[in-house]
Amino acid sequence: MGTIGYSQSYSQTSSEGDSSFISQFCQSIRILTLMPAFPATLKLAVIGAGPQGLTLLTHLLQKRPQLRGQFRVFDPSGQWMQRWREQFAAQEIEHLRSPAVHHPDPHPGALRNFAEGRESELYPPYALPGTQLFNEHCAAVIQRWQLEDCILPHPVEGLTLSSGRFPFTLHSPAGLVKARRVILATGSGQPHWPDWAVRAQLEHFLSGSDARIAHSSQVDLRQLPSLQGEQILIIGGGLSSGHLALGAVRRGARVTLMTRRNCREKLFDADPGWLGPKYLKGFAAETDWYKRWQMIRDARDGGSFTPEVLTKLRRLSRDGKVQFLEYCQVKQATWGDNQWQIEFDELGSNKPELAGGNAHCTAKRIWLATGSTLDAAQHPLLQSIQQSHPAELVNGLPVLDQHLRWPGLELFVSGGLAALQLGPAARNLFGGRLAAERIVPAIAKPSLALPALSP
Ligand SMILES: Cc1cc2nc3c(=O)[nH]c(=O)nc-3n(C[C@H](O)[C@H](O)[C@H](O)COP(=O)(O)OP(=O)(O)OC[C@H]3O[C@@H](n4cnc5c(N)ncnc54)[C@H](O)[C@@H]3O)c2cc1C
Ligand SMILES: NC(=O)c1ccc[n+]([C@@H]2O[C@H](COP(=O)([O-])OP(=O)(O)OC[C@H]3O[C@@H](n4cnc5c(N)ncnc54)[C@H](OP(=O)(O)O)[C@@H]3O)[C@@H](O)[C@H]2O)c1
Repeated sequence: MGTIGYSQSYSQTSSEGDSSFISQFCQSIRILTLMPAFPATLKLAVIGAGPQGLTLLTHLLQKRPQLRGQFRVFDPSGQWMQRWREQFAAQEIEHLRSPAVHHPDPHPGALRNFAEGRESELYPPYALPGTQLFNEHCAAVIQRWQLEDCILPHPVEGLTLSSGRFPFTLHSPAGLVKARRVILATGSGQPHWPDWAVRAQLEHFLSGSDARIAHSSQVDLRQLPSLQGEQILIIGGGLSSGHLALGAVRRGARVTLMTRRNCREKLFDADPGWLGPKYLKGFAAETDWYKRWQMIRDARDGGSFTPEVLTKLRRLSRDGKVQFLEYCQVKQATWGDNQWQIEFDELGSNKPELAGGNAHCTAKRIWLATGSTLDAAQHPLLQSIQQSHPAELVNGLPVLDQHLRWPGLELFVSGGLAALQLGPAARNLFGGRLAAERIVPAIAKPSLALPALSP
């Protein structure tokens, strides 16, 4: 298994195309005019301006309004939710997978109230917010909590630890910042590249050919106005794979969807029982971290399509525009005759014509909708911390305390890396709320603070 350079995971530059220069230039001007001064010290540094970082700060300000002005958020985009908006736009996603009760405002009904008069933008069956509605709601949340100008438009490239009142040092291209507390909200891991795909990309890079292989996080449908007549192989049975397949067919492509299991249909990533005490109570009662990890894995059970998307794909397959290759796994892909030559194994027995042997297909492009890898040992901001203050890792997930602190430190971890405490929805919007409920008391109540680190 492989991952592609970390910088890609925050900058999301696309090998399949870039946004227009003018809009980027205007955005840079806007960021520069709103940018707060670069501080020497911070009481609280948040790394990542995605939905999880936003959720944490709205909850924190609700509890302790006097903390306003005492924190800054680092994100290279200089904007709230830029990666979120880009990924929805790049895959042309019409509405969220999660219901309207999941959003970054502390008031559970805030999005429903915001949607008054716009009910047609709440999609069945469970009021799934339309993409534009959700984005506009988030903009209103940012404005309501006056969080527009707390973002520093820089990546954090290193995080080191010393002692004293401001033990953390954040290393960014703009300089060093000392922080008393840090919240890590950098998203759900790094794009996952299977080994064969890493090899294929390397070969393509060395040969200088125009071969194309990209992870789903790099594919931007907006930059591909026509794919007329192209054959595209998409790997993976998650919703990104489904949206990209639909987008490719809309542009005239024929798609082969290859999954290593059968295609699964689920409304949400995990059973809704994981969004409340029904399953979370038993999860919290489990004291064996490895069993908790298994519970998370079993609850998500790999990738799945929503019924809506799978129905559309099946319809297209009847028209010959989508071909399902289930229980199949690529062995190798090489570039020849101006297209990818793909050898794959048939893993199950549902396709007698492929059973028991090597099979072959061709494609002009390969898109890897293979999800992401969550591993604290690979996270560049945790490596030095893990050396000086090692945390137990369970298949890459750190064992945090109940307030999601790295053991002994005022370093809070949100998102998928906090799943051993929060459960299978940790990386989703709902996970942001769960994380806020754990982290905010530890920041707001002095009695819960850890003692300062001694030299
Ligand atoms: C296409 C798609 C659709 C999804 N739809 C849903 C949905 O409908 N409902 C749902 O609940 N979940 C959905 N998810 C899951 C979704 O990723 C999360 O809900 C959400 O994005 C997680 O928020 P986050 O803040 O943890 O991560 P992100 O949105 O990834 O934000 C992380 C931020 O951290 C920044 N960052 C990263 N590294 C650094 C660094 N070193 N320094 C500074 N900044 C850094 C990034 O620039 C980014 O802005 C979807 C995921 C995908 C891929
Ligand atoms: N709001 C929306 O409309 C929307 C759109 C897109 C994504 N999302 C959300 O975003 C999150 C990520 O979705 P995603 O589709 O990008 O990823 P995902 O749900 O993690 O799915 C990844 C898929 O890749 C497969 N895979 C992983 N490694 C593989 C390998 N080496 N070889 C072959 N297949 C491999 C997995 O197979 P297995 O199933 O066998 O493990 C899985 O089917 C999910 O929470 C999803 O709900 C939401």
